[in-house]
Formats: sequence, C-alpha cells, structure tokens
Amino acid sequence: MNYQELLESARGKIAPQCRVCKECNGVVCRGEIPGTGGKGSGAAFKICLDFLSSVKIKLDTIYENKGQDTSVSLFGQTFKYPFFVAPIGGMNLNYNGAITEREYDEAVVFGANKAGTAAFTGDGANDSFFLDSLPVIKEAGGKAVPTIKPWKNEKVFEKVKLLEEAGAMAFAMDIDSAGLINLALAGKPVSAKSVEELSEITKFTKVPFIVKGVMTAEGAKKALEAGAYGIVVSSHGGRVLEHAAATCSVLPEIREAVGDKLKIFVDGGIRSGADVFKAIALGADAALIGRPYVIAAFGGGAEGVEFYTEKIGAELRDIMIMSGCKDLSDITIDKVIL
Ligand SMILES: Cc1cc2nc3c(=O)[nH]c(=O)nc-3n(C[C@H](O)[C@H](O)[C@H](O)COP(=O)(O)O)c2cc1C
Repeated sequence: MNYQELLESARGKIAPQCRVCKECNGVVCRGEIPGTGGKGSGAAFKICLDFLSSVKIKLDTIYENKGQDTSVSLFGQTFKYPFFVAPIGGMNLNYNGAITEREYDEAVVFGANKAGTAAFTGDGANDSFFLDSLPVIKEAGGKAVPTIKPWKNEKVFEKVKLLEEAGAMAFAMDIDSAGLINLALAGKPVSAKSVEELSEITKFTKVPFIVKGVMTAEGAKKALEAGAYGIVVSSHGGRVLEHAAATCSVLPEIREAVGDKLKIFVDGGIRSGADVFKAIALGADAALIGRPYVIAAFGGGAEGVEFYTEKIGAELRDIMIMSGCKDLSDITIDKVIL
C-alpha cells in the first residue's frame, strides 16, 4: 500500500461527507455538522492550518549524529511517536456508516497500537459511540483513551466505572462539547463544568483524567486545580466556536502557566510530522490527529491506521534530523521561527 492508494480506497467509501481533499483543511466541508466540517464558515478549522504553515523550522545539520529517538513517555508507558489518534465518534451520524462504530474503534485502537502509539475514542448523542469502544479497549489491554462528553456527573461516573473495567490507561472529557450543535439537536444535556465538578471526577477514579478543549492559560490552571493529569488544547476541530484561535498559537502561554505540572496535548489541523514537531516546539508533549485518521481507517482499516502513523512518524524523524534534534527534549521553541 502507498499513501495515494490509501486515499483512493477511502475516497470510494467515505463520500459524500468527506471528499478526501488534497489538504484536509475544512474549506470544502465548512459548516457541515453533522458531518466532518468546522462550525459556520469553518474559520476556526482553517486558522489552525494557516497558523501551523506560518511557523518555520530552523535547519541545522552541524552536530554529532547520535540518531533520532521519537519516543514519548505518558501514562507510565512509552510510545514510539508523540502523536495519537484524536477521538472521533459518529460513523453513522457524521459519516455514511460504511464502517460501524465498532469497526472504526478496532481500526484506530489496534492500528495505532501496532505502530507503537494509541488512539483516543469518542462519545456522542448515541451511547453506542462510547460503549462500542470498550470491548476493543479491553482486547487491546487498555492501551487507548476513551473520551466522555460533559454529561451530568452521575452519568459520567457510570461511564468511568465501565472504562475502569475495560482497563483503559487514561480517559478524557471533551469539555468544549458544551457548545456542540449535534448534541443540542439531539436534546442531550451536556454543559460547562465547574472546577468542583471536575474535581469530583478526578477524586472518583485513579485513572488519569485529561480535560479536552482547553484554549487559555486560565483554563489550564483550572484543569490543574481540579487534579487533571493533562489537557488537550483543542477547539474540537473548529466544531464548537467559529471564532476560536489557532490551537497551536496558544500553546506557549499555556505551557508557561502550568510548567510541567500538566501533560499538554494539542489537536486541530496537525497534518504532518513537521506539524507534530512545531506543536512540540511550541509547548505540547504530544499531538492528536483526527480527520486524516478517519480517512486512513475507511481506506485501509487497522493496516491503514498503522501505515498513516508510520508515515507521520517518518516525517517527524526526518525533521528532527534536519533540525539537529536527537530526542523530543531537543524540540524547543528556539527550533522554530514564529
Ligand atoms: C466527525 C467528528 C467527530 C468528532 N467526535 C469527537 C468526539 O466524540 N469526542 C471528542 O472529544 N472529539 C471529537 N471530535 C474532535 C476531534 O477529536 C478533534 O478535536 C478534531 O477533529 C481536530 O483534529 P483534526 O483537525 O486533526 O481533525 C470530532 C471531530 C469530528 C470531525
């Protein structure tokens, strides 16, 4: 399989919700929710890609070559690359149902694990989005991160018990789904959560908790106060607020505010190993990639996901060679030009 064949194979299956564009930037699918686009004009999706392409990497190949180590330690485990599959739910709702929720979860969880990384899985208006991932996560020995919507805490606790039984290594909550049109349309009660409500969740379980959808230094400090393990700097791929900032642009101030006390993930328009490098240079511990993994899963199942992971990983290694970075600790903000 090569990448073009993977895209071609997906193109036949994923239409019309995703057109498998040359650059997955939210222009053609703008406003398509349910679907795969960003809210309204799609500006909050596009701005992420525009910001990332404006960041340049400094070339430096005068150094003692000791090889490149792309690995990252998180959740007490080591992963081969510092990027993961972002949670995407709703194969029927947002795509055409050509693969089921369970088949999607199998593709991303097993495919990412095979490549030495891991997948986050989604949640949604239909409980099956969350429930279908659990047997897959269990089969994978817990090497995945289920994500729960900001339901009322009693419902969150029920879901946390289930993910504990499945042995999940961590779990997330996309707190920004408080603004998701899909859920409002389905009449499902999600809402913003106070620091106290988030603290109740971290006290309820020992499983590391990640708050997804933080976009400010203040928000990061609140997640820290609530006892979170980490945050995902995310605007839900531009799906919740048309006027959100580029996610990677707010990384430096967030890192400065919380130091090393929180693990910082970021998503939104990460499309290459160079983008992963830029995200880490700006302050992230790891990146998440969403929509391109759906294309990989539709195009080639678990094998497609594994292939795509190795492609992005090889690009990252190449950039590290060209910028004099032997491991992730060398990828600092002075390696990029803003
Ligand atoms: C169709 C679709 C469904 C999504 N479902 C979820 C979800 O269930 N939970 C969640 O936290 N994020 C969800 N997201 C957001 C993604 O996890 C991610 O934040 C976003 O797609 C940005 O990354 P990308 O630009 O690489 O796609 C969804 C995004 C899309 C496009």
